Amino acid sequence: MSTALITGASGGIGEAFAQELATRNTNLVLVARSGEKLNQLASQLQDKYKIQVDVIIKDLTETAATGELFDTIKSKGLTIDILINNAGFGDYGDFAERDGERQVKMVQLNILALVDLTHKFLPLMRQRRSGSIINVSSITAFQPIPYLSVYAASKAFILSFSEALWAENRSHNVRVLCVCPGPTDTNFLNEAQFPPALAGKPNQLATPEVVVRDALNALERGDSTVVSGGFASKAIANLGKFVPRKTLVSLLQKQFKS
Ligand SMILES: NC(=O)c1ccc[n+]([C@@H]2O[C@H](COP(=O)([O-])OP(=O)(O)OC[C@H]3O[C@@H](n4cnc5c(N)ncnc54)[C@H](OP(=O)(O)O)[C@@H]3O)[C@@H](O)[C@H]2O)c1
Repeated sequence: MSTALITGASGGIGEAFAQELATRNTNLVLVARSGEKLNQLASQLQDKYKIQVDVIIKDLTETAATGELFDTIKSKGLTIDILINNAGFGDYGDFAERDGERQVKMVQLNILALVDLTHKFLPLMRQRRSGSIINVSSITAFQPIPYLSVYAASKAFILSFSEALWAENRSHNVRVLCVCPGPTDTNFLNEAQFPPALAGKPNQLATPEVVVRDALNALERGDSTVVSGGFASKAIANLGKFVPRKTLVSLLQKQFKS
């Protein structure tokens, strides 16, 4: 039986990964800050699917957190076959006026924790010549987004990093996939304090289950990247190929200004 480590498993896309992988007889290590939600999910999945589920409560914006997480997994004797770097958050608004500490924490979670966990687990996967890493980016990765500046830049980092690792690790039999969801019905927009007028109607949002299905199908195919969502998401991801950068960022500024 294989084991998946999922960061940000207490809700949204991370929880949907946990639910889907449980149906596929995969043991789970669930990570986030909300212990109660993680423990509830763990006992539900353990009872229903008779899998092993470990809960590790961590705030991944803390510098020591990834090292502690790795050590805990080692001390439990667990082997991670699938690493899903999913935990992340955004912050809407004019960068100069937003809370500076929150911007730095966003970089810490969206980029530094993801790089560090990848660097800790990837060599072990290479030694075994088997394993998969799924990094959750966003369609904001494909262009700068005014009023989501740090978030979009963090997701661009994940896209570039993951595609490079996809190529480096093909010959080692380790798969690396970057998932770029469009707007999805989770707590993300709320957490990012996104203006309701810009957030889109609930029926325009993808479900986390669709994102997970697209990701696991793409992993199966050996793809490097998948854009998940409807036609609009795929069009946004490709806009930069057709519109000059300065024009694009000005258009996006109008689109994203509240
Ligand atoms: N929803 C969208 O429209 C959308 C679109 C594109 C990409 N994404 C990406 O999808 C990923 C998952 O987001 P989601 O949409 O599922 O949002 P969500 O429902 O807000 O889930 C975010 C998850 O990250 C965890 N998390 C947040 N801060 C953390 C921290 N400091 N340490 C550890 N875990 C932390 C949260 O758990 P705790 O609060 O319990 O810690 C939660 O489990 C994110 O990387 C996001 O950028 C989302």
